Amino acid sequence: MTDKMNVNTFKAEDPNLKPHVESEPLYDPLRPVEELLLPAHFAWGTVTTAYQIDGAASQDGKGRSIWDTFSHLAPSRTNGESGDVACDHYNRVIEDVDLMASYGVEGIAFYGKLVDELLARNIEPVVTLYHWDVPQRIYDRYGAFLNTSEFIADFEHFISVCFMRFGDDVKKWVTFNEPYIISVFGYHSGILAPGRTTSTGGDSRTEPWRVGHTIILAHAVAVRAYARDYQDRQKGIISIVLSGHFYEPWDASSVIDLAAAQRRLEFYIAWFGDPIFLGRDYPSAMRARLGERLPAFTPEQLDMLRDQVPKNAFYGMNHYSTKNARALPNSPAEDDCAGNVEELDTNSEGKAVGPVSGMSWLRVAPGGFRKLLNWVWNRHHLPIIITENGCPCPGESQLPVEKAVDDRFRITYFGLYLDAISRALYEDGVKVDGYYVWSLMDNFEWSAGFGPRYGIAHTDYKTLVRTPKRSAWYLKDTFREHRKK
Ligand code: BGC
Repeated sequence: MTDKMNVNTFKAEDPNLKPHVESEPLYDPLRPVEELLLPAHFAWGTVTTAYQIDGAASQDGKGRSIWDTFSHLAPSRTNGESGDVACDHYNRVIEDVDLMASYGVEGIAFYGKLVDELLARNIEPVVTLYHWDVPQRIYDRYGAFLNTSEFIADFEHFISVCFMRFGDDVKKWVTFNEPYIISVFGYHSGILAPGRTTSTGGDSRTEPWRVGHTIILAHAVAVRAYARDYQDRQKGIISIVLSGHFYEPWDASSVIDLAAAQRRLEFYIAWFGDPIFLGRDYPSAMRARLGERLPAFTPEQLDMLRDQVPKNAFYGMNHYSTKNARALPNSPAEDDCAGNVEELDTNSEGKAVGPVSGMSWLRVAPGGFRKLLNWVWNRHHLPIIITENGCPCPGESQLPVEKAVDDRFRITYFGLYLDAISRALYEDGVKVDGYYVWSLMDNFEWSAGFGPRYGIAHTDYKTLVRTPKRSAWYLKDTFREHRKK
């Protein structure tokens, strides 16, 4: 892997992910989409986040976040680019809401000031309260997530303002987006803001777990505050979004690789899922392996977690791809955060999990998605909303707009992943209520800058013109006509 690629692919830099060397094609071509049915009430939508699209970095008294700082570090940690302007969404709200309405979108994670425009076009807003951009001053003052009690006090204040101000119109809330990524990428590998590692003043042995602990408790406090002060009147629902790949055993006949795949899922997903959705301690595999590195819940905290379990109305799932898990033979590194498991794109027979997209870490693997839906349903027993799914097409970032909008790879990816949802629903009995696409338009992809394009609309970063891609019309048709059961 070249340095350039390292800069361009933030998730490829997961410390556990080894690059797959492209020599021979190791996989079958993309399968045809079957257009299997989905329920008539199934909601679809598109997702964006503040820092990735808003721009307007110093307009109207906006304060700085840790991403304003991180994207201006020298040498650059974000491919020489920043979200200062991004898609300039802050100044183009109406145009962008019109774009969504033209797709026939039904739901969206967005932030407060859009709410009226969305509702006016019959689009349901789904609001994520925290998507990675803690105010810089909070980070400077007490280390943000590293100080559990201070952070929770500020977070409770912040969310109460949001519930009070927007709660009459917003009926679906998400507290945190992807606690795993916040903790591990921000405080272990340092790929994302605030970019802490042991060598840059942090402690990769302990900080990811402390950050995760704070997020779990802050989530429970937010759910409690909403239920206590707002829910009866506002009648909304609240939960959290967890990310995660599915993990297949590297060698399907090996008992230790089967255990490694299960353990990797627990270190990734159940780390947060068990305390939040089951009201209990971290998975025993984590306790056993991490020992003192993993903070302990007090009995009062466990009581609080248990009390909030029934108030989590859905499981928000961000999902993109599948990996193979191989048990490592030696004892774990002292800052191991994956359960001593190596992640690979190919299995013991040299077969890749699926065709590679425009990101080396993201391969098309709808079978793994279906298995993950089952795994989450069986463990956490909540209706699932897919809160992010999508991919960049291979080579897309090099294409002129006329070619980029012909995004057949993405259409097939969506089609296969929707087929997987249909099978999980009707053949496996998993409850899945909605599907939100990442993303409404190409945008600032964190450490990878403006390189990777995930949008169902092309963004021209010079003119800021948005042009819908074919996948947008595919989704519109698929949800309007073809798949209703
Ligand atoms: C994040 C998005 C990100 C997307 C694609 C998700 O993990 O929530 O902010 O752009 O993945 O990498």
